Amino acid sequence: MKHSHCSRLLLVCSVLVLCLVTGGARCNKLSSNFYDWTCPGVYNIVQQHVFSAMREELRMGASLLRLHFHDCFVNGCDGSILLDGADGEKFALPNMNSVRGYEVIDAIKADLENMCPGVVSCADVVALAAGYGVLFSGGPYYNVLLGRRDGLKANQSGAANGLPSPFEPISSIVKKFADVGLDTKDVVVLSGAHTIGRARCVLFSDRLASTKSSANPTLDATMAANLQKLCTGGDGNQTTALDVSSADVFDKQYYHNLLNKKGLLSSDQGLFSADEDVVASTTKALVQTYSDDGEQFFSDFGASMVKMGSIPLPAGSADEIRCNCRVPNPK
Ligand code: HEM
Ligand SMILES: *[C@@H]1O[C@H](CO)[C@@H](O)[C@H](O)[C@H]1NC(C)=O
Ligand SMILES: *[C@@H]1O[C@H](CO)[C@@H](O)[C@H](O)[C@H]1NC(C)=O
Repeated sequence: MKHSHCSRLLLVCSVLVLCLVTGGARCNKLSSNFYDWTCPGVYNIVQQHVFSAMREELRMGASLLRLHFHDCFVNGCDGSILLDGADGEKFALPNMNSVRGYEVIDAIKADLENMCPGVVSCADVVALAAGYGVLFSGGPYYNVLLGRRDGLKANQSGAANGLPSPFEPISSIVKKFADVGLDTKDVVVLSGAHTIGRARCVLFSDRLASTKSSANPTLDATMAANLQKLCTGGDGNQTTALDVSSADVFDKQYYHNLLNKKGLLSSDQGLFSADEDVVASTTKALVQTYSDDGEQFFSDFGASMVKMGSIPLPAGSADEIRCNCRVPNPK
């Protein structure tokens, strides 16, 4: 038999086994050994796919990391960003023509459905893929907790309004993080994800002084000139590295850039250069710390990723293990 659809029987059994093994009345808590009995090969499969996708295009590690972030911030880490359809989150402004990696997730899920049908959630696939994306970029290993369940619905307006914009002040970004249970430190630590990946001109050209006579005092003049050269005359889709000094390596260089006015997005540089207030002095001190201490950055990054990866679905939401990450299971 070809396992092109989820096997319901196995799903029921695996949940039952899990509840027995963990012995708890609640089976919705994430754990590091969630699939040890039901799909121990999950790590290998995800790892192999992320590895080969990154061999083809190194940037894919960054793209998968961002996919997880944008999934978790809207109705929790529930795979909702993966759902197709006109009302999908993928068509909300922060995601459209921007978020990448959907095909990699599809390929992983297809292999998993062959190996252990109906067992591994799409949300967990995204979380694990993000972890390997970080690791294979030279970043920290952290223990990705598993056991998420997939949501049934996308939330397009939630994506449009809940995801942070590079144009808003840090105080308002801090508020969006607080809305999902993350604090100011998490903002600074997780922004360190911008040590890898790319951004398009439309998302930072507000910082270039093309129409002003005076240069931007929070942007290094040489970097400004280079960005201007890149962006002028294009359609806004040209990309450049978020971390100008080590584009594809996950390291503390992102923070070092901020000390030198070499953050790319306004929301990056703002962590160090915003006008002094309570939030700004907190973020500034943390930037200083991480620019000095890469080990501290790595361990705090892992901790904040676990926290972000645990943002729950709204209370009372229906959930399932989706068969095809792009559509809810047929009734
Ligand atoms: C703090 C608020 C944040 C803002 C305002 C922000 C904004 C952005 C923007 C505008 C881009 C470029 C998108 C494009 O060019 O289409 C980007 C890329 C990226 N972001 Fe963020 N981001 C934030 C936080 C995060 C967090 C928390 C993570 C992950 C933990 C993350 C991971 C990434 C990665 C890895 C990329 C590069 C993706 C790629 O190359 O495909 N960002 N971000
Ligand atoms: C969509 O997301 C917004 C913002 O996160 C939230 O307030 C709203 O309740 C969500 N809607 C649904 C139907 O889940
Ligand atoms: C950028 O590329 C996308 C997809 O290829 C296109 O739809 C969009 O119009 C382009 N953006 C601009 C500002 O031209």
